Amino acid sequence: MTDMHKCAVVGCGFVGASCAFSLVESGLFSEMVLIDVNKEKAEGEAMDLSHGVPFTRPIEVYAGDYPDLEGAGIIIIAAGANQKPGETRIDLVHKNIKIFQQIVPQITKYNSEGILLVVTNPVDILTYATLQISGLPRARVIGSGTVLDTARLKYLLGRRLGVDPRGVHAFIIGEHGDSELAVWSSANISGVDLSEFCSAGGMKLTAEELDTLYREVRDSAYEIIDKKGATYYGIAMSVRRICESIVRDERSILPVSSLITGHYGLTDICMGVPSILGREGVERVLDIPLNAEENARLLKSAASLREVLKSI
Ligand code: LAC
Repeated sequence: MTDMHKCAVVGCGFVGASCAFSLVESGLFSEMVLIDVNKEKAEGEAMDLSHGVPFTRPIEVYAGDYPDLEGAGIIIIAAGANQKPGETRIDLVHKNIKIFQQIVPQITKYNSEGILLVVTNPVDILTYATLQISGLPRARVIGSGTVLDTARLKYLLGRRLGVDPRGVHAFIIGEHGDSELAVWSSANISGVDLSEFCSAGGMKLTAEELDTLYREVRDSAYEIIDKKGATYYGIAMSVRRICESIVRDERSILPVSSLITGHYGLTDICMGVPSILGREGVERVLDIPLNAEENARLLKSAASLREVLKSI
């Protein structure tokens, strides 16, 4: 039996600790267990977060171990190495697969009913690996996918057009990584087709500009890592949004990573594509319309992930 008021974060590095902070601030949960190979670190994070509880809604945050996962509705997995300057997300795969081979059986030993939310990179590969190792239903093994990338696109496009990014509807789909793609063909501003919105506002967004925007999104993490050594706030806020849709059974449509079984002509791969997300996890993967180029790029993204899967 799981309790959606209880969550857990496995791995309390920059990303895990920022996820914990974002989730404490969200008021979504009333219990949070933090697990880290460095118990002192988890204890320190729990103490630090707990001292802020009077400013948000009551939540019991504590450092624990795998047995404490029992009953958690959502388990966020942020354990593993993160990208260093010059590293791609894929470069992390061998290190992090080994860690997942250790921790996923520990997780499911004490909790095989909750939803596993993978954040560690390469997130699509590790979501697929978690599904294989855990044997849990695919609806309940989710990766953060391209939720953050899509948020980056909304932000940059909103800033370029002078509108609230929440009114920008455009997806980044595919690998959370170098082969991701922007779905420009259906991009709209609160229902107004992007190109119509621009011409009505006396603006012009050339194909080159759109491509530059896409590259800025795709390469954001590299730039942030070069400047500050790691990324963690954007992904933590993405995790909060994903948890919100699950806990509140919102059935929001978010490009999380889960096992694709036939959509877009793809099978047996995990990638970020728009999916309905509710209390039971991924309820349905959506087939959003793609033009020929977008479809080809999505297949290419899947192929590049398959190459990585073959190497592990
Ligand atoms: C990023 C990390 C989470 O894109 O992959 O910032």
